[in-house]
Amino acid sequence: MQPLSQVLPPSAATTPEGHLAIGGCDLVALADEFGTPLVIYDAGLLRDTMRRYVTAFRAHDPRAEVIYASKAFWAQALLRMAHAEGLRMDVASGGELFMALHAGFPAGKIVMHGNAKDAREIGEALDAMVGLIVVDSLDEIVLLDRLAGERGRVQDVLVRVTPGVKPSTHAYIATGQIDSKFGFALDGGLAAGAVAACRAAANVNLVGLHCHIGSQIFELGAYRMAAGLLAAFASEQGGDDLGILDMGGGLGIAYTRGDTPPSVEEYADMVIGGVFAEWDAVGLPRPRVMVEPGRSIVGRAGLTIYRVTGTKDIPGVRRYVAVDGGMSDLMRPMLYGATYEAILPGRPEAEATQTLRLVGKHCESGDVLIQEATLPPVARGDLVCLPATGAYGVAMASNYNGVTRPAVVFVEGGEATLVVRREAYADLVARDL
Ligand SMILES: Cc1ncc(COP(=O)(O)O)c(C=O)c1O
Repeated sequence: MQPLSQVLPPSAATTPEGHLAIGGCDLVALADEFGTPLVIYDAGLLRDTMRRYVTAFRAHDPRAEVIYASKAFWAQALLRMAHAEGLRMDVASGGELFMALHAGFPAGKIVMHGNAKDAREIGEALDAMVGLIVVDSLDEIVLLDRLAGERGRVQDVLVRVTPGVKPSTHAYIATGQIDSKFGFALDGGLAAGAVAACRAAANVNLVGLHCHIGSQIFELGAYRMAAGLLAAFASEQGGDDLGILDMGGGLGIAYTRGDTPPSVEEYADMVIGGVFAEWDAVGLPRPRVMVEPGRSIVGRAGLTIYRVTGTKDIPGVRRYVAVDGGMSDLMRPMLYGATYEAILPGRPEAEATQTLRLVGKHCESGDVLIQEATLPPVARGDLVCLPATGAYGVAMASNYNGVTRPAVVFVEGGEATLVVRREAYADLVARDL
């Protein structure tokens, strides 16, 4: 189990029976009790990571805010925890807004995103009185101005800027990229035009800038580069209405044993330290920094357990191992070739001697969870666990092939709590008229 420690929650342990345990709960017992596929979160790790984020950013500036990007995983239990830990909430649709409000989030702590907000969603955000709306197009600014005016309100907004920094796991470059569906590019005067449009709109109150340079970022220098470009832009724009700088999310996590992401503290030092240094350099008062982490809060805390439904050997080609889930609960491998590790919860210490392709149960050849996994010999009925599935896993789940979406369990201190029930077949027809 040792080589996988980066991708498992730190609470991972082996029980006296030799099973894998998380948060003091035996994963084999959880699979037997709650069925499979099963999504398990280490609640202690979730809470700890939220606290580390708040502490790391507030150590630089007590005004700093951590906004959880709810798209990464939005169960009510998680949203309530984020609220209790003092985080704000990033929502990217009317549905995510509804879920945040339903979890008891005060609207003033909600930040509304979306590159394609429609009139209904903007109206819902205005009626709820969300704290901030991040504007993403000139059409949206016009619509927001009108809808806010009809309600006799003036809405605080951030302008989403695309600074043209392209990060990857190993490098970052300034691309001058203007070809993005998100935000306003610094190039070509687009961001300047958006700032001017907000300033001219009677019912829109510009309070700052937003940027999200990408996700699963290991190279923290990319944030410093973005901060430098944004400081120059803020300086050009003048005015005292750019007091907030939301630097988006993006800190990466370890999905496989070779991954070594920076810590939350290193990320905070670079992001807020970098912003302050760049703002100081252009002689502007330091902004109130906000960040919007998603993956780095929930990713490592979550694991998915599947049961093997069958194996198939194609001589001279490969061995296939099929499980009872797949693209309906974990889309990332199919969507962008994301890679995961696998471990057997019943025999985590057994020697991995077989190379195989781990596939799902869906009617798509592309329904492959791991192209090349190395595991101990597995047979029908065995459990297979994929660590680090907590972000953009169950949040992207579907009912393809009429597969019901999995249950979600929080574990902590040896207690398991069912926080989202497994869908029933009746749920599959519940909306049909
Ligand atoms: C605007 C914005 N903020 C925050 C996030 C969260 O990013 P991550 O989960 O990589 O931290 C995203 C992810 O796509 C995003 O688009």
